Amino acid sequence: MNILVINGPNLNLLGIREPELYGRQDYAALVALVEETCAEADMKVEIFQSNHEGAIVDKIQEALGKFDGILINPAAYTHTSVAILDALKAVDLPAVEVHISEVSQREDFRQISYAGMACVRTYMGLGLEGYRQGLLFLKEYLQSH
Ligand code: DQA
Repeated sequence: MNILVINGPNLNLLGIREPELYGRQDYAALVALVEETCAEADMKVEIFQSNHEGAIVDKIQEALGKFDGILINPAAYTHTSVAILDALKAVDLPAVEVHISEVSQREDFRQISYAGMACVRTYMGLGLEGYRQGLLFLKEYLQSH
């Protein structure tokens, strides 16, 4: 089972960035958690981060034929990017959406998730733990579909 993890803009600044919202663990800690979770669950993983919408669209397109599923935190592009939604729909791979913060309790402009419309499940407000739960769910989902 081969999983692609995608992180959108500013997630490379985890640990520095608004720690009251996103915690004090840095991006390297997130990468370590994802790698550890996948190793324990016997999944192969590639982890990609970009601050550029088009680069994320390219990466999703390239996933076709290479990956079985996608776990994505599109960050701010969650709320703006029809292009990322369309790319997820185009490749039609099972995808899980993750947000570190509890987006449902934040500003109105964060209440729409375009990417989420192409995802089988969303995890939010669990901090980095959401990535672990999302990956384990994706494994279960891929095994049963
Ligand atoms: C985020 C929530 C988004 O609204 C925000 O723009 C982010 C991070 C999260 O993980 O909580 O950059 O996706």
